[in-house]
Amino acid sequence: MSNRTFTMIKPDATSKGYTGAILQQILEAGFTIKAMKWTRLTTEQAGLFYDIHRERPFFGELVDFMSSGPIVAAILEKENAVADFRKLIGATNPAQAEEGTIRKRFAASVGENAVHGSDSDENAVIEGNFFFSQLERF
Ligand code: CMP
Repeated sequence: MSNRTFTMIKPDATSKGYTGAILQQILEAGFTIKAMKWTRLTTEQAGLFYDIHRERPFFGELVDFMSSGPIVAAILEKENAVADFRKLIGATNPAQAEEGTIRKRFAASVGENAVHGSDSDENAVIEGNFFFSQLERF
């Protein structure tokens, strides 16, 4: 069990002005920020980040959406970070997300679902390394 996870606040949420409220909910849930940046992915970078989904029918849509505007990328720390963060954000499809979860509050659809959260300790490390050098994490 690792104490770090990786998240992105996605372009739908940044463009609707939800960044502050989402960060507040994350902090109030007990996560601390170990690294954070406001950036925008190219389609190539979005494709590399989501390479594991390359053969899925929604891959093109996912890459176009994730490169459509700015995102916030962050490494978060908390005991049991990966599992607790996935609980905080709720199901991938906001229609199935529990009341009060970030996706229930802020997401519009399964594609435009406001936030990303790593699904394993291993992927949390890979995804954090995709965005941050050692000099950018504390
Ligand atoms: P995320 O947790 O970032 O990881 C993969 C993403 O693919 C997921 O969130 C969704 O935004 C997206 N995704 C999953 N299923 C679909 C789908 N059926 N249609 C469009 N996007 C999807």
